[in-house]
Amino acid sequence: MARIVVVGSINMDLVTRTARRPAPGETILGTAFDSVPGGKGANQAIAARRAGARVDFIGATGTDVFAGALRKVLADNEIATTGLRTIEGSSGIATIVVDESGENSIIVVGGANAALTELTEADRSIIADADILLCQLEIPVDTVIEAARHARAHDTLVLLNPSPARPLPDELWASVDIAVVNEGEAARLDSELGAVSHVLVTRGGAGASYRGPDGEFTHPGVPVEVVDTTGAGDTFTGALAAHWHEGPDTALAWACAAGALATTAFGATAAIPAAAEIERVLHS
Ligand code: RIB
Repeated sequence: MARIVVVGSINMDLVTRTARRPAPGETILGTAFDSVPGGKGANQAIAARRAGARVDFIGATGTDVFAGALRKVLADNEIATTGLRTIEGSSGIATIVVDESGENSIIVVGGANAALTELTEADRSIIADADILLCQLEIPVDTVIEAARHARAHDTLVLLNPSPARPLPDELWASVDIAVVNEGEAARLDSELGAVSHVLVTRGGAGASYRGPDGEFTHPGVPVEVVDTTGAGDTFTGALAAHWHEGPDTALAWACAAGALATTAFGATAAIPAAAEIERVLHS
């Protein structure tokens, strides 16, 4: 069983469903509202866990009304949370609009995630003992750099999902072993990704591609009825990390199946599939 550590965000997603997303200055009527735990870090942690890995989460919640539900979703998924801090104030919040095609628009306010500015000695030993460090960019970049540097020094592989996209120092790229990007990010980060050994590009319904020492190949994706794409890329990334030790080809198949299944239900963490569901798709 792979041992994964996520150093990343956890948010409460406030999700409104609507037929179409509003134009600037326009007011429209929505069709439903729900609050669902999410955040790229937590989504990827839960996806890795449900795909079969042992997972530690290093992150932060606030002291607001959402904090209890955010802690509970990690506990319910048997994710180790000795690295989870409580920071006075607001938890991370994502305001999400999902249209009837399942596409979304998201605004994230960092809250407690933005206060994850230091790693403790206990965090460092979790990173040193893990097989893979999994990071995204919803926490301070300096913390991601520190975690990646420490992982490198202890032969822990570094998997970066550089989202939401922002400029990153070369020092961080030099520590990354595996990058997962969407097509837009792949185009924008073309030169930076040149320094990364293994690059996976997600292509929505068209699957995903890999390039690295094991060659170049594409997985065509899994056809599904899309309800909500929120968290699909995170589910892809978590499942990929959980199965990376089986080789990029097998890991990509798991990731594509998991990511596709994640679009078939509403809500980020709520829609992440279990290993048995993913295996059913892989063997169908
Ligand atoms: O990738 C989807 C996630 O982005 C949501 O769960 C939201 O919290 C934002 O972080």
